[in-house]
Amino acid sequence: MANISTMFSASSSFFIALSLLLTLSDICLPIRGSEFGINYGQIANNLPSPTRVAGLINSLNVSRIKLYDADPNVLSAFSGSDVEFIIGLKNEDLGNMTDISQAQSWIQQNVVPYLSQTKISTITVGNEIFTNNDTQQNQNLVPAMKSVYNALVNLGLDQKVSVTSAHSFNILSNSYPPSSGAFREDLIPYIQPLLSFHAQVKSPFLINAYPFFAYKGSPSEISLNYVLFQPNAGMVDPNTNLHYDNMLYAQVDAVYAAIKALGHSDIEVKISETGWPSKGDADEVGASLENAMLYNGNLLKRMEMKEGTPAKPSVPIDIYVFALFNENMKPGPTSERNYGLYYPDGTPVYDAGLQGRLPKMVVESASKSNGLFVGYLVYVITCLVLVFEISRW
Ligand SMILES: *[C@@H]1O[C@H](CO)[C@@H](O)[C@H](O)[C@H]1NC(C)=O
Ligand SMILES: *[C@@H]1O[C@H](CO)[C@@H](O)[C@H](O)[C@H]1NC(C)=O
Ligand SMILES: *[C@@H]1O[C@H](CO)[C@@H](O)[C@H](O)[C@H]1NC(C)=O
Repeated sequence: MANISTMFSASSSFFIALSLLLTLSDICLPIRGSEFGINYGQIANNLPSPTRVAGLINSLNVSRIKLYDADPNVLSAFSGSDVEFIIGLKNEDLGNMTDISQAQSWIQQNVVPYLSQTKISTITVGNEIFTNNDTQQNQNLVPAMKSVYNALVNLGLDQKVSVTSAHSFNILSNSYPPSSGAFREDLIPYIQPLLSFHAQVKSPFLINAYPFFAYKGSPSEISLNYVLFQPNAGMVDPNTNLHYDNMLYAQVDAVYAAIKALGHSDIEVKISETGWPSKGDADEVGASLENAMLYNGNLLKRMEMKEGTPAKPSVPIDIYVFALFNENMKPGPTSERNYGLYYPDGTPVYDAGLQGRLPKMVVESASKSNGLFVGYLVYVITCLVLVFEISRW
């Protein structure tokens, strides 16, 4: 009896050691990469399991992920990893979240159970709320953010998890030159209290910024090299004399200027989404594999350099690339379904300088059968040793 249980525990600890080794070799493989954030959107019916995605993320050296919900399968799959999550409250939840008891129970259900194993740094309350021109939703945004924040305070989590929202760049009515950045007049009644909230709780202002849309809108006026971070003359802001060599940084500084125009210089701006589609409809000028590769490839290089914008040179811009996968169920023009760095099967859409890969399902089962084989070997060796011992005795 005792011998059999020793045998089993020997084989299982060997298996544990083996899987540890496999995991370590996976982590230790010299893959080029840098610390960056990525949007993990899931509006698709063909994406790999979150567990396999965790393998891909690990090989990509991605340190921060943004979700549009609080998918428990994803949060569990990243249990024990160092990846930091932004999770999202959906737009349709906004009304209910203005009620602090509902906010608190949402946090208790969707955040608290994962927090000890998975890093959740931020909750976004809604995505691009202001672009829908829905007065009720616009009015609900700040109260919902406040009640989510107060619920976190009640639970003692406000120092761990911050509260923000993500906005479309279209909430600006002017962005050129960057120093003249201004919010849409009709949104100011909602944005003013939003900024006070950010300043009070020290949370960042998130913007979804797509130079692609600007280029698509006026391809004859905007230099493609300027939007793709390629060598170009750039532009000088006549008010500040600051030189811009790419549109994304100019967009961020336009947001800083718009915020400053409402009296705040104490709020950090982060890019919650940026990217470029690798495919588009005939009328979507600029949507191409080559442009997407240049935009995201150059963007990743810029991120590695931890640059700030010309107006905020000492604050490295925090950027979440959109997106990890092509999402086949997204409505709208073809470009919407083609922002991914990866196809759902794990092959890169283009070479953006990343060398991450999706662990194959066959590899998963192979390592399991390796484990069984090794377990069997250990079993046989143990038996031989036992027979040898017994014969000696
Ligand atoms: C991952 O990113 C970190 C932080 O930028 C860097 O120090 C490290 O070398 C990177 N690792 C790999 C394997 O690229
Ligand atoms: C809002 O709360 C009510 C009452 O608890 C619930 O019936 C409803 O489903 C909630 N709405 C959403 C969108 O979750
Ligand atoms: C919302 O309102 C703005 C400003 O009036 C307008 O430019 C925009 O097209 C509207 N958006 C929608 C989705 O109706």
